[in-house]
Amino acid sequence: MKAVTWQGRRKISVEEVPDPTIKEPTDIIIKISSTAICGSDLHLYEVMTPFMDKGDVLGHEPMGVVQEIGNLVTSVKVGDRVVIPFNIACGKCYMCDRGLQSQCETTQVRSQGRGAAFFGYSKLYGHVPGGQAEYLRVPHGQYNSILVPSDFGDDRFLFLSDVLPTAWQAVEYANIPEGGSVVIMGLGPIGDMSARISKYRGAGRVIGVDLVPERLVRSKARGIDVIDLSKNEKDLLSIIQDMTDGRGPDAVIDAVGMEAHGSGFEKAIQTSARILPDGPASALIKKAGIDRMDALHKSIDIVRRGGTISIIGVYAGKVDPMPLDTMFDKQIQIRMGQANVKRWAPTLLPLLTTKDPLGTDDFATHHLSLNEAAHAYDIFQKKEDGAIKIVLKP
Ligand SMILES: NC(=O)c1ccc[n+]([C@@H]2O[C@H](COP(=O)([O-])OP(=O)(O)OC[C@H]3O[C@@H](n4cnc5c(N)ncnc54)[C@H](O)[C@@H]3O)[C@@H](O)[C@H]2O)c1
Ligand SMILES: [Zn+2]
Ligand SMILES: [Zn+2]
Repeated sequence: MKAVTWQGRRKISVEEVPDPTIKEPTDIIIKISSTAICGSDLHLYEVMTPFMDKGDVLGHEPMGVVQEIGNLVTSVKVGDRVVIPFNIACGKCYMCDRGLQSQCETTQVRSQGRGAAFFGYSKLYGHVPGGQAEYLRVPHGQYNSILVPSDFGDDRFLFLSDVLPTAWQAVEYANIPEGGSVVIMGLGPIGDMSARISKYRGAGRVIGVDLVPERLVRSKARGIDVIDLSKNEKDLLSIIQDMTDGRGPDAVIDAVGMEAHGSGFEKAIQTSARILPDGPASALIKKAGIDRMDALHKSIDIVRRGGTISIIGVYAGKVDPMPLDTMFDKQIQIRMGQANVKRWAPTLLPLLTTKDPLGTDDFATHHLSLNEAAHAYDIFQKKEDGAIKIVLKP
């Protein structure tokens, strides 16, 4: 089959790889009909290269049709239409029982000290072949699949794999009081959807911050107040305070993560880690503070005293510098983590089967063939051609 493979820093190619086969009786195999590219894939594309091997198959946001099932699979049958959660979870362990599927104790990558494995996401997360391909083996597919109806196009349901549950969890963890205020740092797919969900769930004031013109325009068109960071960096705090009774918002969602614009010093460390040979580089990345912290540090300044920061952007540095004096003095609450996809699926599915209040049908800006993956990664990373969310069609 054809699959999107990682070949080196900023090098992606579509290659012929062996078709997947059933290995465990709870596996399923799906024929992929749509598969999206995520901001998390961009971390592998450039920064996390020491954890990648040439030929790794990327992707963790797929959906398609069940092609084959293992002997013990009863939850789906051949021909069913399913979306696959990005985390691989068993559905039976202590963590899964508590709705913490991203910490599944059956699939935890203990050799790397990590939580649940996930698709197409480097040695750190289990080295499992990903879903930007024609077919995908889904370990624990008995649990790790979301059955969706046959009506509507793929885009209605595709984002159940990641964007929707991730943004839902971001808003849940932000703990915005009824009618309260939230600032969302970053209006990529995750921040954009977090803004939509905050509004849908009754936040009184939703403010989005980014620096890419198309992303600002897109959120504004959905009734979000937007601030262009490129023009208001110095006054950001006072602008937001003026919009929130001088106090700052009840909550901030950091939907930027480790590659924030405007973090010059940390960018230099990320770059130097990248040019070291893999062994020392992965050690440096694991031990040092390699994250670009601009968005998180701004979130700490922006949030009101006693407010909540929900960190949904991914960070990976071990000793990132944090202003603990400010965090303690402001009595800031912080929640974070990978999304527990299956936990939120039953809440989200009913929103997708009648109306489309979150606008999933036209959420993707680009539909490209799998063969165009290299171009797709390039424009998504450079934020060119209005690329905000790209769906590949095998
Ligand atoms: N926790 C999870 O389960 C989970 C799931 C999916 C994605 N993510 C993470 O969420 C983050 C966002 O993903 P995405 O798909 O939306 O990707 P993205 O890279 O397209 O979005 C990031 C956005 O942040 C903006 N930005 C950069 N620096 C900024 C700054 N200093 N202040 C404000 N905005 C800034 C960028 O212009 C961009 O629009 C990534 O770190 C990704 O890895 C986490
Ligand atoms: Zn993703
Ligand atoms: Zn589990």
